[in-house]
Amino acid sequence: MNSSRRDFLRSVSLLAAGSLAPMPSWGFGLENKKLKVALVGTGVRGTSFWGKRLVETYPDILEFVGLSDINPGRLAYAKSYIGVKCPVFTDFRAMVTKTKPDLIIVTTTDATHHEFIIQGLEMGCDVLTEKPLTIDEDKCQQIIDAERKSSKNLIVGFNYRWSPYNTKIKELLMEGAIGKVTSVDFHWYLNTYHGASYFRRWHGLREMGGTLWVHKATHHFDLLNWWLDSDPQEVFAYGALEHYGINNEFRGDKCRTCPHKDKCNYYWDITKDERSMDLYVKHEEHDGYIRDNCVFAKEINIYDKHSAQIKYANNAVVNYSLTTYSPFEGWRIAFNGTEGRIEAQLDIPYHSKIEASQEELHAAEMDQSSGEMSYEPIITHKLWNEHKVEQVGMERAGHGGGDKRLHDQIFKHPNQQDPFERAAGIRDGAMSVLIGVAARKSVESGKPVRISELTDLEPRAERL
Ligand SMILES: NC(=O)c1ccc[n+]([C@@H]2O[C@H](COP(=O)([O-])OP(=O)(O)OC[C@H]3O[C@@H](n4cnc5c(N)ncnc54)[C@H](O)[C@@H]3O)[C@@H](O)[C@H]2O)c1
Repeated sequence: MNSSRRDFLRSVSLLAAGSLAPMPSWGFGLENKKLKVALVGTGVRGTSFWGKRLVETYPDILEFVGLSDINPGRLAYAKSYIGVKCPVFTDFRAMVTKTKPDLIIVTTTDATHHEFIIQGLEMGCDVLTEKPLTIDEDKCQQIIDAERKSSKNLIVGFNYRWSPYNTKIKELLMEGAIGKVTSVDFHWYLNTYHGASYFRRWHGLREMGGTLWVHKATHHFDLLNWWLDSDPQEVFAYGALEHYGINNEFRGDKCRTCPHKDKCNYYWDITKDERSMDLYVKHEEHDGYIRDNCVFAKEINIYDKHSAQIKYANNAVVNYSLTTYSPFEGWRIAFNGTEGRIEAQLDIPYHSKIEASQEELHAAEMDQSSGEMSYEPIITHKLWNEHKVEQVGMERAGHGGGDKRLHDQIFKHPNQQDPFERAAGIRDGAMSVLIGVAARKSVESGKPVRISELTDLEPRAERL
Protein backbone atom coordinates (compact mmCIF):
# COMPACT_ATOMS: atom_id res chain seq x y z
CA MET A 1 0.00 0.00 0.00
CA ASN A 2 1.34 3.49 -0.78
CA SER A 3 2.23 5.80 2.07
CA SER A 4 -0.49 8.45 1.71
CA ARG A 5 -3.26 5.88 1.69
CA ARG A 6 -1.70 4.02 4.59
CA ASP A 7 -1.36 7.22 6.62
CA PHE A 8 -4.96 8.13 5.90
CA LEU A 9 -6.25 4.75 6.92
CA ARG A 10 -4.30 4.85 10.16
CA SER A 11 -5.33 8.38 11.01
CA VAL A 12 -8.95 7.81 10.12
CA SER A 13 -9.13 5.31 12.95
CA LEU A 14 -7.87 7.97 15.33
CA LEU A 15 -10.51 10.38 14.07
CA ALA A 16 -13.20 7.82 14.58
CA ALA A 17 -11.99 7.12 18.07
CA GLY A 18 -11.58 10.81 18.85
CA SER A 19 -8.04 10.02 19.95
CA LEU A 20 -5.49 12.68 20.72
CA ALA A 21 -2.41 10.68 19.87
CA PRO A 22 -0.31 12.47 17.24
CA MET A 23 0.57 10.57 14.09
CA PRO A 24 3.34 11.03 11.53
CA SER A 25 2.35 13.60 8.95
CA TRP A 26 1.21 12.77 5.45
CA GLY A 27 3.73 12.63 2.67
CA PHE A 28 1.92 13.29 -0.55
CA GLY A 29 3.91 13.04 -3.67
CA LEU A 30 3.19 12.36 -7.29
CA GLU A 31 4.33 8.79 -6.88
CA ASN A 32 1.70 8.13 -4.22
CA LYS A 33 -1.70 6.84 -5.14
CA LYS A 34 -4.63 8.89 -3.96
CA LEU A 35 -7.27 7.96 -1.45
CA LYS A 36 -10.12 6.17 -3.24
CA VAL A 37 -13.46 7.74 -2.30
CA ALA A 38 -16.98 6.57 -3.22
CA LEU A 39 -20.07 8.60 -2.36
CA VAL A 40 -23.68 7.48 -1.95
CA GLY A 41 -26.46 10.09 -2.05
CA THR A 42 -25.87 12.75 -4.71
CA GLY A 43 -28.23 15.40 -3.36
CA VAL A 44 -27.30 18.94 -2.38
CA ARG A 45 -24.92 18.03 0.45
CA GLY A 46 -23.33 15.13 -1.42
CA THR A 47 -22.65 17.06 -4.61
CA SER A 48 -21.45 20.29 -2.97
CA PHE A 49 -19.70 19.84 0.37
CA TRP A 50 -18.66 16.19 0.01
CA GLY A 51 -18.40 16.31 -3.80
CA LYS A 52 -17.32 19.42 -5.68
CA ARG A 53 -15.52 20.95 -2.69
CA LEU A 54 -13.43 17.82 -2.06
CA VAL A 55 -12.52 17.49 -5.74
CA GLU A 56 -11.51 21.13 -6.01
CA THR A 57 -9.75 21.45 -2.66
CA TYR A 58 -7.82 18.18 -2.39
CA PRO A 59 -6.91 17.10 -5.95
CA ASP A 60 -3.55 15.67 -4.79
CA ILE A 61 -5.01 13.77 -1.87
CA LEU A 62 -8.09 11.95 -3.09
CA GLU A 63 -9.93 10.72 -6.15
CA PHE A 64 -13.56 9.74 -6.62
CA VAL A 65 -13.91 6.17 -7.86
CA GLY A 66 -17.72 5.93 -7.80
CA LEU A 67 -20.98 7.79 -7.22
CA SER A 68 -24.26 6.16 -6.29
CA ASP A 69 -27.89 7.27 -5.95
CA ILE A 70 -31.31 5.77 -6.61
CA ASN A 71 -32.12 8.58 -9.06
CA PRO A 72 -30.23 8.01 -12.35
CA GLY A 73 -31.01 11.52 -13.60
CA ARG A 74 -29.59 13.20 -10.52
CA LEU A 75 -26.61 10.86 -10.65
CA ALA A 76 -25.72 11.99 -14.19
CA TYR A 77 -26.08 15.65 -13.20
CA ALA A 78 -23.98 15.04 -10.08
CA LYS A 79 -21.12 13.58 -12.09
CA SER A 80 -20.85 16.68 -14.22
CA TYR A 81 -21.50 19.14 -11.34
CA ILE A 82 -18.86 17.57 -9.11
CA GLY A 83 -16.48 17.39 -12.07
CA VAL A 84 -15.44 13.72 -11.98
CA LYS A 85 -15.00 10.97 -14.58
CA CYS A 86 -15.71 7.99 -12.32
CA PRO A 87 -18.49 5.46 -13.04
CA VAL A 88 -21.94 5.94 -11.52
CA PHE A 89 -24.18 3.26 -10.01
CA THR A 90 -27.79 2.94 -8.95
CA ASP A 91 -26.71 -0.18 -7.03
CA PHE A 92 -24.54 0.62 -4.00
CA ARG A 93 -23.14 -2.90 -3.53
CA ALA A 94 -22.14 -3.05 -7.18
CA MET A 95 -20.28 0.24 -6.76
CA VAL A 96 -18.33 -0.98 -3.73
CA THR A 97 -17.58 -4.39 -5.27
CA LYS A 98 -16.38 -2.88 -8.52
CA THR A 99 -14.51 0.22 -7.34
CA LYS A 100 -13.08 -1.04 -4.01
CA PRO A 101 -12.99 2.36 -2.28
CA ASP A 102 -10.92 3.12 0.82
CA LEU A 103 -13.59 5.46 2.11
CA ILE A 104 -17.35 5.59 1.58
CA ILE A 105 -19.13 8.90 2.18
CA VAL A 106 -22.82 8.57 3.09
CA THR A 107 -25.03 11.56 2.20
CA THR A 108 -28.38 9.92 1.56
CA THR A 109 -31.64 10.69 3.36
CA ASP A 110 -31.33 10.11 7.11
CA ALA A 111 -33.48 6.96 7.37
CA THR A 112 -31.18 5.13 4.94
CA HIS A 113 -27.78 6.00 6.48
CA HIS A 114 -27.61 2.74 8.47
CA GLU A 115 -27.91 0.60 5.31
CA PHE A 116 -24.80 2.10 3.75
CA ILE A 117 -22.83 2.42 6.97
CA ILE A 118 -23.38 -1.25 7.80
CA GLN A 119 -22.78 -2.57 4.27
CA GLY A 120 -19.74 -0.32 3.88
CA LEU A 121 -18.14 -1.60 7.09
CA GLU A 122 -19.01 -5.21 6.22
CA MET A 123 -17.49 -4.80 2.78
CA GLY A 124 -14.19 -3.66 4.32
CA CYS A 125 -14.32 0.12 3.89
CA ASP A 126 -13.93 3.03 6.24
CA VAL A 127 -17.16 5.01 6.33
CA LEU A 128 -17.83 8.71 6.87
CA THR A 129 -21.49 9.55 7.39
CA GLU A 130 -23.33 12.82 7.45
CA LYS A 131 -25.36 13.56 10.55
CA PRO A 132 -27.61 12.25 11.96
CA LEU A 133 -26.00 8.84 12.42
CA THR A 134 -29.48 7.36 12.05
CA ILE A 135 -33.09 8.06 13.07
CA ASP A 136 -34.07 5.50 15.71
CA GLU A 137 -32.65 3.31 18.46
CA ASP A 138 -32.96 -0.01 16.57
CA LYS A 139 -30.98 1.22 13.60
CA CYS A 140 -28.52 2.81 16.02
CA GLN A 141 -27.95 -0.56 17.74
CA GLN A 142 -27.48 -2.25 14.35
CA ILE A 143 -24.77 0.28 13.50
CA ILE A 144 -23.10 -0.16 16.90
CA ASP A 145 -23.07 -3.98 16.39
CA ALA A 146 -21.69 -3.68 12.86
CA GLU A 147 -18.94 -1.31 13.96
CA ARG A 148 -17.93 -3.66 16.79
CA LYS A 149 -17.61 -6.56 14.36
CA SER A 150 -15.66 -4.55 11.82
CA SER A 151 -11.99 -3.66 11.81
CA LYS A 152 -12.90 -0.52 9.87
CA ASN A 153 -13.84 2.89 11.19
CA LEU A 154 -16.81 5.18 11.21
CA ILE A 155 -16.53 8.98 11.27
CA VAL A 156 -19.54 11.24 11.83
CA GLY A 157 -19.25 14.58 10.06
CA PHE A 158 -20.17 16.93 12.90
CA ASN A 159 -19.19 20.27 11.40
CA TYR A 160 -20.59 22.61 14.08
CA ARG A 161 -17.85 21.62 16.52
CA TRP A 162 -15.33 23.10 14.10
CA SER A 163 -16.74 26.62 13.97
CA PRO A 164 -14.25 28.93 15.76
CA TYR A 165 -17.05 30.40 17.88
CA ASN A 166 -18.12 27.00 19.18
CA THR A 167 -14.51 25.96 19.68
CA LYS A 168 -13.90 29.08 21.80
CA ILE A 169 -16.75 28.07 24.13
CA LYS A 170 -15.16 24.61 24.44
CA GLU A 171 -11.79 26.19 25.25
CA LEU A 172 -13.29 28.34 28.04
CA LEU A 173 -15.10 25.35 29.55
CA MET A 174 -12.01 23.14 29.28
CA GLU A 175 -9.85 25.69 31.11
CA GLY A 176 -12.43 25.85 33.90
CA ALA A 177 -13.36 29.50 33.34
CA ILE A 178 -16.59 29.06 35.36
CA GLY A 179 -15.70 26.00 37.44
CA LYS A 180 -17.91 22.93 37.04
CA VAL A 181 -20.93 23.48 34.80
CA THR A 182 -24.14 22.70 36.65
CA SER A 183 -26.86 23.87 34.23
CA VAL A 184 -27.31 25.19 30.69
CA ASP A 185 -29.97 27.17 28.81
CA PHE A 186 -29.74 26.48 25.05
CA HIS A 187 -32.26 27.91 22.60
CA TRP A 188 -32.09 27.64 18.81
CA TYR A 189 -34.22 29.72 16.46
CA LEU A 190 -34.68 28.72 12.79
CA ASN A 191 -36.11 31.46 10.62
CA THR A 192 -38.99 31.25 8.17
CA TYR A 193 -36.58 30.40 5.28
CA HIS A 194 -34.36 27.78 6.89
CA GLY A 195 -37.03 26.48 9.28
CA ALA A 196 -39.65 26.25 6.53
CA SER A 197 -37.23 24.39 4.24
CA TYR A 198 -37.57 21.31 6.44
CA PHE A 199 -41.31 21.22 5.86
CA ARG A 200 -41.03 21.38 2.06
CA ARG A 201 -39.43 17.96 1.53
CA TRP A 202 -38.63 14.58 3.08
CA HIS A 203 -37.65 16.06 6.44
CA GLY A 204 -41.35 16.70 7.06
CA LEU A 205 -41.99 12.97 7.40
CA ARG A 206 -40.79 11.38 10.64
CA GLU A 207 -40.11 8.06 8.93
CA MET A 208 -37.56 9.85 6.70
CA GLY A 209 -35.74 12.19 9.09
CA GLY A 210 -36.79 11.09 12.57
CA THR A 211 -38.38 14.54 13.21
CA LEU A 212 -36.26 17.63 13.82
CA TRP A 213 -35.52 16.26 17.30
CA VAL A 214 -33.15 14.01 15.38
CA HIS A 215 -32.48 15.56 11.97
CA LYS A 216 -31.68 19.07 13.19
CA ALA A 217 -31.22 18.86 16.95
CA THR A 218 -28.54 16.15 16.60
CA HIS A 219 -26.17 19.06 15.83
CA HIS A 220 -27.15 20.86 19.01
CA PHE A 221 -27.11 17.76 21.18
CA ASP A 222 -23.68 16.86 19.88
CA LEU A 223 -22.43 20.34 20.80
CA LEU A 224 -23.88 19.95 24.30
CA ASN A 225 -22.33 16.49 24.80
CA TRP A 226 -18.96 17.81 23.62
CA TRP A 227 -19.09 21.07 25.57
CA LEU A 228 -20.20 19.34 28.79
CA ASP A 229 -17.84 16.41 28.19
CA SER A 230 -20.44 14.02 29.54
CA ASP A 231 -23.08 11.62 28.22
CA PRO A 232 -26.83 12.34 28.46
CA GLN A 233 -28.71 10.21 30.98
CA GLU A 234 -32.39 11.15 30.90
CA VAL A 235 -34.66 13.34 28.73
CA PHE A 236 -38.11 14.82 29.26
CA ALA A 237 -39.70 16.76 26.39
CA TYR A 238 -42.72 18.51 24.95
CA GLY A 239 -43.34 19.05 21.25
CA ALA A 240 -46.15 20.01 18.90
CA LEU A 241 -47.01 20.86 15.30
CA GLU A 242 -48.78 24.21 15.51
CA HIS A 243 -47.67 26.32 12.56
CA TYR A 244 -46.89 24.24 9.45
CA GLY A 245 -48.71 21.12 8.19
CA ILE A 246 -52.41 21.03 8.94
CA ASN A 247 -52.26 24.43 10.67
CA ASN A 248 -53.40 26.61 7.80
CA GLU A 249 -56.69 27.22 6.08
CA PHE A 250 -55.27 26.79 2.57
CA ARG A 251 -52.69 24.52 0.96
CA GLY A 252 -51.55 23.53 -2.51
CA ASP A 253 -49.94 20.55 -4.12
CA LYS A 254 -46.57 22.28 -4.54
CA CYS A 255 -45.49 25.94 -4.86
CA ARG A 256 -45.08 25.75 -8.65
CA THR A 257 -48.72 24.91 -9.25
CA CYS A 258 -50.28 26.48 -6.18
CA PRO A 259 -53.47 28.55 -6.63
CA HIS A 260 -52.63 30.47 -3.40
CA LYS A 261 -49.24 31.85 -4.51
CA ASP A 262 -50.27 35.45 -4.16
CA LYS A 263 -51.36 35.25 -0.56
CA CYS A 264 -48.91 32.67 0.85
CA ASN A 265 -45.95 34.03 2.83
CA TYR A 266 -44.15 30.76 2.20
CA TYR A 267 -44.46 30.81 -1.59
CA TRP A 268 -41.07 29.87 -3.09
CA ASP A 269 -40.45 30.02 -6.83
CA ILE A 270 -38.10 27.10 -7.38
CA THR A 271 -37.98 27.85 -11.11
CA LYS A 272 -35.80 30.88 -10.29
CA ASP A 273 -33.29 28.67 -8.45
CA GLU A 274 -31.11 27.11 -11.14
CA ARG A 275 -29.32 24.69 -8.83
CA SER A 276 -32.56 23.31 -7.38
CA MET A 277 -34.00 22.93 -10.88
CA ASP A 278 -30.90 20.99 -12.04
CA LEU A 279 -30.69 18.89 -8.91
CA TYR A 280 -34.34 18.06 -8.25
CA VAL A 281 -37.02 19.30 -10.65
CA LYS A 282 -35.40 17.91 -13.80
CA HIS A 283 -35.28 14.41 -12.28
CA GLU A 284 -38.70 14.19 -10.61
CA GLU A 285 -39.85 11.63 -13.18
CA HIS A 286 -37.52 8.99 -11.71
CA ASP A 287 -38.52 9.08 -8.05
CA GLY A 288 -41.26 11.69 -7.57
CA TYR A 289 -39.02 13.72 -5.21
CA ILE A 290 -40.74 17.14 -5.06
CA ARG A 291 -38.45 19.82 -3.62
CA ASP A 292 -41.05 22.62 -3.38
CA ASN A 293 -43.81 20.76 -1.56
CA CYS A 294 -46.40 22.75 0.36
CA VAL A 295 -45.29 23.57 3.92
CA PHE A 296 -48.94 23.08 4.87
CA ALA A 297 -49.18 19.55 3.43
CA LYS A 298 -51.49 17.35 5.52
CA GLU A 299 -48.93 14.51 5.50
CA ILE A 300 -46.40 16.47 7.57
CA ASN A 301 -46.02 14.53 10.80
CA ILE A 302 -43.06 16.13 12.59
CA TYR A 303 -43.00 18.83 15.27
CA ASP A 304 -42.35 22.52 14.72
CA LYS A 305 -42.07 23.36 18.45
CA HIS A 306 -39.59 21.53 20.68
CA SER A 307 -38.72 21.90 24.34
CA ALA A 308 -36.65 19.44 26.37
CA GLN A 309 -34.86 18.95 29.64
CA ILE A 310 -31.76 16.80 29.52
CA LYS A 311 -30.03 15.44 32.58
CA TYR A 312 -26.40 14.48 32.11
CA ALA A 313 -24.48 11.68 33.76
CA ASN A 314 -22.26 14.32 35.44
CA ASN A 315 -25.42 15.90 36.94
CA ALA A 316 -25.51 18.95 34.66
CA VAL A 317 -29.07 19.79 33.52
CA VAL A 318 -29.99 21.46 30.23
CA ASN A 319 -33.06 23.43 29.16
CA TYR A 320 -33.22 23.18 25.37
CA SER A 321 -35.64 24.51 22.77
CA LEU A 322 -35.88 24.54 18.98
CA THR A 323 -38.21 26.89 17.12
CA THR A 324 -38.83 26.56 13.38
CA TYR A 325 -40.67 29.77 12.45
CA SER A 326 -38.71 32.55 14.07
CA PRO A 327 -38.48 35.99 12.37
CA PHE A 328 -34.69 35.66 12.64
CA GLU A 329 -32.16 32.84 12.67
CA GLY A 330 -29.85 32.58 15.65
CA TRP A 331 -29.20 30.95 19.01
CA ARG A 332 -28.50 31.70 22.63
CA ILE A 333 -26.70 29.67 25.26
CA ALA A 334 -25.80 30.25 28.89
CA PHE A 335 -23.71 27.97 31.09
CA ASN A 336 -24.07 28.28 34.86
CA GLY A 337 -21.02 27.02 36.72
CA THR A 338 -19.86 26.76 40.30
CA GLU A 339 -17.61 29.79 39.70
CA GLY A 340 -19.60 31.90 37.27
CA ARG A 341 -21.50 32.06 34.02
CA ILE A 342 -20.76 32.08 30.28
CA GLU A 343 -23.22 33.67 27.87
CA ALA A 344 -22.98 33.31 24.12
CA GLN A 345 -25.30 34.11 21.24
CA LEU A 346 -25.11 34.19 17.47
CA ASP A 347 -27.00 36.38 15.01
CA ILE A 348 -29.54 37.90 17.38
CA PRO A 349 -30.42 40.93 15.20
CA TYR A 350 -31.38 43.17 18.13
CA HIS A 351 -27.85 42.86 19.51
CA SER A 352 -25.68 42.53 16.39
CA LYS A 353 -25.29 44.84 13.43
CA ILE A 354 -26.49 42.47 10.70
CA GLU A 355 -27.16 44.17 7.42
CA ALA A 356 -28.05 41.12 5.31
CA SER A 357 -31.69 40.03 5.15
CA GLN A 358 -32.77 36.74 6.73
CA GLU A 359 -32.99 35.24 3.23
CA GLU A 360 -29.43 36.39 2.40
CA LEU A 361 -28.12 35.08 5.71
CA HIS A 362 -29.59 31.67 4.97
CA ALA A 363 -28.03 31.63 1.48
CA ALA A 364 -24.61 32.64 2.91
CA GLU A 365 -24.80 29.91 5.53
CA MET A 366 -25.40 27.25 2.90
CA ASP A 367 -22.59 28.60 0.69
CA GLN A 368 -19.31 26.68 0.63
CA SER A 369 -17.10 29.53 -0.60
CA SER A 370 -15.19 31.61 1.93
CA GLY A 371 -17.45 33.97 3.79
CA GLU A 372 -16.86 37.39 5.28
CA MET A 373 -15.58 37.45 8.84
CA SER A 374 -17.94 38.61 11.52
CA TYR A 375 -17.38 39.04 15.24
CA GLU A 376 -19.75 37.95 17.97
CA PRO A 377 -19.31 38.26 21.73
CA ILE A 378 -18.80 35.58 24.35
CA ILE A 379 -19.28 36.85 27.89
CA THR A 380 -17.53 35.28 30.86
CA HIS A 381 -18.81 36.45 34.23
CA LYS A 382 -16.94 35.05 37.21
CA LEU A 383 -18.74 35.23 40.55
CA TRP A 384 -17.88 38.42 42.49
CA ASN A 385 -16.11 39.93 39.45
CA GLU A 386 -16.89 42.22 36.53
CA HIS A 387 -17.93 40.41 33.37
CA LYS A 388 -15.51 40.10 30.45
CA VAL A 389 -16.60 40.37 26.80
CA GLU A 390 -14.51 38.66 24.16
CA GLN A 391 -15.23 39.26 20.45
CA VAL A 392 -14.76 35.97 18.59
CA GLY A 393 -14.24 35.97 14.83
CA MET A 394 -16.00 33.51 12.57
CA GLU A 395 -16.90 33.17 8.92
CA ARG A 396 -20.37 33.79 7.59
CA ALA A 397 -20.33 30.69 5.38
CA GLY A 398 -20.29 26.92 5.63
CA HIS A 399 -21.74 26.56 9.13
CA GLY A 400 -19.74 29.34 10.75
CA GLY A 401 -16.50 28.20 9.14
CA GLY A 402 -16.92 24.71 10.61
CA ASP A 403 -17.34 22.98 7.25
CA LYS A 404 -13.93 23.74 5.82
CA ARG A 405 -12.09 23.09 9.08
CA LEU A 406 -13.73 19.66 9.33
CA HIS A 407 -12.55 18.85 5.80
CA ASP A 408 -9.00 19.97 6.47
CA GLN A 409 -8.82 17.86 9.61
CA ILE A 410 -10.09 14.75 7.83
CA PHE A 411 -8.20 15.03 4.56
CA LYS A 412 -5.33 17.50 4.94
CA HIS A 413 -3.87 17.10 8.40
CA PRO A 414 -5.63 14.15 10.05
CA ASN A 415 -2.52 13.50 12.12
CA GLN A 416 -2.55 16.89 13.77
CA GLN A 417 -3.18 16.84 17.49
CA ASP A 418 -6.44 18.57 18.39
CA PRO A 419 -6.62 19.87 21.97
CA PHE A 420 -10.37 20.41 21.61
CA GLU A 421 -11.19 16.80 20.64
CA ARG A 422 -13.40 17.84 17.75
CA ALA A 423 -13.22 14.57 15.81
CA ALA A 424 -16.43 12.58 16.22
CA GLY A 425 -16.93 8.83 16.05
CA ILE A 426 -19.74 6.35 16.51
CA ARG A 427 -20.31 7.01 20.20
CA ASP A 428 -20.68 10.74 19.57
CA GLY A 429 -23.04 10.07 16.66
CA ALA A 430 -25.10 7.68 18.75
CA MET A 431 -25.32 9.81 21.91
CA SER A 432 -26.49 12.89 20.01
CA VAL A 433 -29.15 10.94 18.13
CA LEU A 434 -30.32 9.13 21.25
CA ILE A 435 -31.19 12.42 22.97
CA GLY A 436 -33.50 13.20 20.03
CA VAL A 437 -34.99 9.70 20.05
CA ALA A 438 -35.57 9.96 23.81
CA ALA A 439 -37.17 13.40 23.38
CA ARG A 440 -39.50 12.04 20.69
CA LYS A 441 -40.48 9.12 22.90
CA SER A 442 -41.00 11.42 25.86
CA VAL A 443 -43.31 13.73 23.86
CA GLU A 444 -45.34 10.69 22.88
CA SER A 445 -45.43 8.97 26.28
CA GLY A 446 -45.50 12.03 28.56
CA LYS A 447 -42.74 10.39 30.62
CA PRO A 448 -38.99 10.88 31.03
CA VAL A 449 -36.89 8.48 28.96
CA ARG A 450 -33.53 7.08 30.03
CA ILE A 451 -30.79 6.90 27.42
CA SER A 452 -29.65 3.50 28.72
CA GLU A 453 -33.07 2.02 27.73
CA LEU A 454 -32.44 2.70 24.06
CA THR A 455 -29.27 0.79 23.12
CA ASP A 456 -26.60 -1.13 25.01
CA LEU A 457 -24.47 2.04 25.41
CA GLU A 458 -24.19 3.05 29.07
CA PRO A 459 -23.98 6.81 29.68
CA ARG A 460 -20.73 7.89 31.33
CA ALA A 461 -20.11 10.92 33.52
CA GLU A 462 -17.06 11.67 31.40
CA ARG A 463 -17.20 11.13 27.65
CA LEU A 464 -15.01 8.36 26.30
N1 LIG B 1 -23.89 18.64 8.46
C1 LIG B 1 -24.70 19.49 7.88
O1 LIG B 1 -24.68 20.64 8.22
C2 LIG B 1 -25.66 19.02 6.83
C3 LIG B 1 -26.23 19.93 5.93
C4 LIG B 1 -27.11 19.44 4.97
C5 LIG B 1 -27.41 18.09 4.92
N2 LIG B 1 -26.83 17.23 5.80
C6 LIG B 1 -27.14 15.78 5.74
O2 LIG B 1 -26.79 15.27 4.46
C7 LIG B 1 -27.70 14.26 4.07
C8 LIG B 1 -28.27 14.59 2.70
O3 LIG B 1 -29.03 15.78 2.80
P1 LIG B 1 -29.40 16.63 1.49
O4 LIG B 1 -29.90 17.93 1.97
O5 LIG B 1 -28.28 16.57 0.53
O6 LIG B 1 -30.64 15.79 0.93
P2 LIG B 1 -31.08 15.59 -0.60
O7 LIG B 1 -32.49 15.21 -0.56
O8 LIG B 1 -30.66 16.77 -1.41
O9 LIG B 1 -30.19 14.35 -1.08
C9 LIG B 1 -30.41 13.04 -0.65
C10 LIG B 1 -30.01 12.12 -1.79
O10 LIG B 1 -30.06 10.77 -1.33
C11 LIG B 1 -30.62 9.99 -2.39
N3 LIG B 1 -31.17 8.75 -1.83
C12 LIG B 1 -32.26 8.59 -1.05
N4 LIG B 1 -32.42 7.30 -0.72
C13 LIG B 1 -31.39 6.63 -1.30
C14 LIG B 1 -31.01 5.26 -1.33
N5 LIG B 1 -31.72 4.32 -0.69
N6 LIG B 1 -29.91 4.93 -2.02
C15 LIG B 1 -29.17 5.86 -2.68
N7 LIG B 1 -29.50 7.18 -2.68
C16 LIG B 1 -30.59 7.56 -2.00
C17 LIG B 1 -31.67 10.88 -3.01
O11 LIG B 1 -32.03 10.47 -4.31
C18 LIG B 1 -30.94 12.23 -3.01
O12 LIG B 1 -30.18 12.40 -4.18
C19 LIG B 1 -28.76 14.16 5.17
O13 LIG B 1 -28.48 13.09 6.01
C20 LIG B 1 -28.61 15.47 5.91
O14 LIG B 1 -28.92 15.35 7.28
C21 LIG B 1 -25.96 17.67 6.72
